[in-house]
Amino acid sequence: MKILITGGAGFIGKWLIEKLPSNAEVIVVDSLDEQVHRASPDFAPEIKARAKCIKADVQEIEHHKEVIEGTDVVIHLAAQTGTGQSMYEISKYVQHNANGTAKLLELVSSLEHKPRRIILSSSRAVYGDGAYTDGTAICYPKGRRLEDLQKGIWEICSDRGEPLKALPMQEDHLTKPTSVYGLTKLWQEDLLQNYCESQKIDLVTLRFQNVYGPKQELGNPYTGIIGIFTNAIVQGNRLEVFEDGLMTRDFVFVGDVAEAVAQCAVYTGSLSATMNIGTGKAVTLLEVIETIAEVIGKKADFTISGRFRVGDIRHAVADMNRYESLLGKWSPTSLKDGLAQYLEWYLGQKPLEQDTLQASFKEMEQKGLLMAKQS
Ligand SMILES: NC(=O)c1ccc[n+]([C@@H]2O[C@H](COP(=O)([O-])OP(=O)(O)OC[C@H]3O[C@@H](n4cnc5c(N)ncnc54)[C@H](O)[C@@H]3O)[C@@H](O)[C@H]2O)c1
Repeated sequence: MKILITGGAGFIGKWLIEKLPSNAEVIVVDSLDEQVHRASPDFAPEIKARAKCIKADVQEIEHHKEVIEGTDVVIHLAAQTGTGQSMYEISKYVQHNANGTAKLLELVSSLEHKPRRIILSSSRAVYGDGAYTDGTAICYPKGRRLEDLQKGIWEICSDRGEPLKALPMQEDHLTKPTSVYGLTKLWQEDLLQNYCESQKIDLVTLRFQNVYGPKQELGNPYTGIIGIFTNAIVQGNRLEVFEDGLMTRDFVFVGDVAEAVAQCAVYTGSLSATMNIGTGKAVTLLEVIETIAEVIGKKADFTISGRFRVGDIRHAVADMNRYESLLGKWSPTSLKDGLAQYLEWYLGQKPLEQDTLQASFKEMEQKGLLMAKQS
């Protein structure tokens, strides 16, 4: 079996490489993007030891056709991943994520031996705010209005102003991204769907929730909220919590995500599906802070600032029924266990500079993407 992983030098790639069967031939194509690989601008030792590593942008992947010929499974991880950043570095996200996928498909179409399966790492960002209910029917609200956010109205309400309840995200729910990043992930999905259907190639689209765990780049202020929180608590800095801290997310441990991707890669029958990958459990950001503090054994010093990021969604949690019906029981790592593993790793790393984080906030403020509630 020959497996090509694009973007395989990143956070999820470093875990995935260790979950693939030892007899599989693996090729990793990664541009070693500076924002992600600032701390160590090379392929990690575990990747070098296991795969043929090619430093290249996926937009120029056609130059490596000969090495890639004969690939059975393509795992497409390469992407720019900062949701906030995507709202102003728009063409960069369109180029890497959408054009990158288009170029990958052009390469695939030129191969003599076509892969039998392509696996895409998509995101819960494709759902945008997701589906809600008023207790009787499902609805897709328009999203949060700037005027409401400025008044500190954080929850999504019906047109009549009545509060609605967020539903777990199901794969058949409407896709309505609220960020450029989310849009480009949806374009990746659509490009692949269109191509794979016409070529009878299996397409497995995995929509990850918030992935966390050891090996996530700490020098990148645009991704990884767990790293930002851990950093502040360990260093005894005051932590800023946006909105009222009661927004929810589904934090899924990177080892579980890598396991799911590997399972889809080696699956022997036909497998073409879109599936969520999360824990199925929503936690508020305040609960996350409490759990990190408990694991560290230190009290968290935080302030609920009432600032908010334009385009942020309020609630997200995966419905894992489809995954379980296709691939069997899903038993994700608990947040506490995952955070304990994360902390053990984190303590051996160089922490994110507080200034880098503040600079990214300033940048967002200047672009009108980070705002304060009006008192
Ligand atoms: N981490 C999460 O929480 C999360 C959530 C949802 C979806 N995803 C998706 O999972 C995938 C992997 O994410 P990750 O967390 O490992 O991110 P990451 O940034 O750690 O890894 C992405 C890798 O892609 C490489 N890359 C970026 N642009 C490239 C290009 N044009 N050509 C070649 N390589 C390129 C980077 O150098 C990096 O090594 C991405 O597609 C991302 O959208 C991640």
